[in-house]
Amino acid sequence: MDVRETWATRVGFILAAVGSAVGLGNIWRFPFLTGESGGAAFLLVYLLLVLLIGLPVLLVEFVIGRRSKQNPIGAFRKLGHPAWKFAGAIGALAGFIILSYYSVVGGWVIQYVVAGLTGGFGTDAETFFLSTASGTNAVLYHALFMSLVAGIVALGIRNGLEKAATVLVPTVVILLVGLAVYGSTLSGASAAYDYYLSPDMGTLVSDAIAVLPAAAGQAFFTLSLGMGVMLTYASYLGEDRNLLADSGIIVGIDTAIAILAGLVVFPFLFTQGIAPGEGGAGAIFISLATAFNELPAGTVIGTVFFIMLLLAALSSAFSIFEVVVSFVIDTFDIDRVPASVGIAVVIFTIGIPTALDLTYLDAYDLFANNILLILGGLLLSLFIGWVYAADARDELQKGRTGSRFGVFWLQTVRYVVPAVLLITLALAVIEYVEFIQGTFL
Ligand code: PHE
Repeated sequence: MDVRETWATRVGFILAAVGSAVGLGNIWRFPFLTGESGGAAFLLVYLLLVLLIGLPVLLVEFVIGRRSKQNPIGAFRKLGHPAWKFAGAIGALAGFIILSYYSVVGGWVIQYVVAGLTGGFGTDAETFFLSTASGTNAVLYHALFMSLVAGIVALGIRNGLEKAATVLVPTVVILLVGLAVYGSTLSGASAAYDYYLSPDMGTLVSDAIAVLPAAAGQAFFTLSLGMGVMLTYASYLGEDRNLLADSGIIVGIDTAIAILAGLVVFPFLFTQGIAPGEGGAGAIFISLATAFNELPAGTVIGTVFFIMLLLAALSSAFSIFEVVVSFVIDTFDIDRVPASVGIAVVIFTIGIPTALDLTYLDAYDLFANNILLILGGLLLSLFIGWVYAADARDELQKGRTGSRFGVFWLQTVRYVVPAVLLITLALAVIEYVEFIQGTFL
């Protein structure tokens, strides 16, 4: 029997998990969603959900992965509950949809890199964004991004990934801090901080309910939860690792980078007189391009920034692709290389409408995040909380000393997580039906 390869070092595992978590979700999606969802109240609900739901579900995936040492489909078979593998199928479906538009946004990033290398980010940041995000160039760069993902995945998961993250994460943090400091000197900064950081207590409760599905979807998306990515990464993990400590580090870094991205985006938007929700999917691109156009050596800094963002997007995209490929290989018994090529073509095709029209991007994004990922997380939590509880606690305990947290975690996974996710799911479905009727019918 094969001995399953394990991560060479603890840092290797954490970096790969952080590589999956940190990506367009933090730097592109988080600020624009916050802007569309009212600012500070959204931030608060999001942070609460990261702790209350995100961290426990991350541990659920870690426990299933390390216990089974399998990908999501093999995992349930190995643990003796093959019927649950439909949870893996939902994850794979989510992966197809998410990657299809993730790759489109990745294509925008490549276009910004190319623009930086060839002179600059246009004269008007908004016009420049709109020309990036529509038309044939958007489709072509989407194809390029998808080819990069498939090409690198076909060569095997480890080598590049682990090493890239070592440089990537610190560089992204340094650049974001620098930009946030620069943003703080702008005339719109104090209005921006007010909007982003101080929730209006009077409307907090009604706002909280309204933003619940969006905040939950974002918590799952940004932590790569609900589709088996973290489960797969933990399947390579040795028994001596402390899952709780590792998940704390991953959640901490991911959350810090998202908060920083908001501190960068809002001062620029406010200073330019763009309403926070108005930038939409272009928020980060528009605000940063303006900054880079103004700053001394801005084109150089901007190019470095977009290269880093591209690498961060690629390492997240790999992790999604990897899960989809394993699912297809496992279910249809095809070889890795033809499976990778075929899946890349399918995902590219599914993504074309989102490259041509941002309304489709919203439609895909809402469906995959607020519905499929939440559903996936709900199923995984029900499995751990109600079917596999005793073994799960035992697994969490490995590599740790204190045992009280395990009891607390299991109760959370049994009751709190399913209750919150069910409510969220119901709200998300209602909202989605309204969105589709309002937009397409
Ligand atoms: N977490 C990634 C990001 O923030 C996106 C992602 C979602 C990756 C789901 C894997 C699974 O960009």
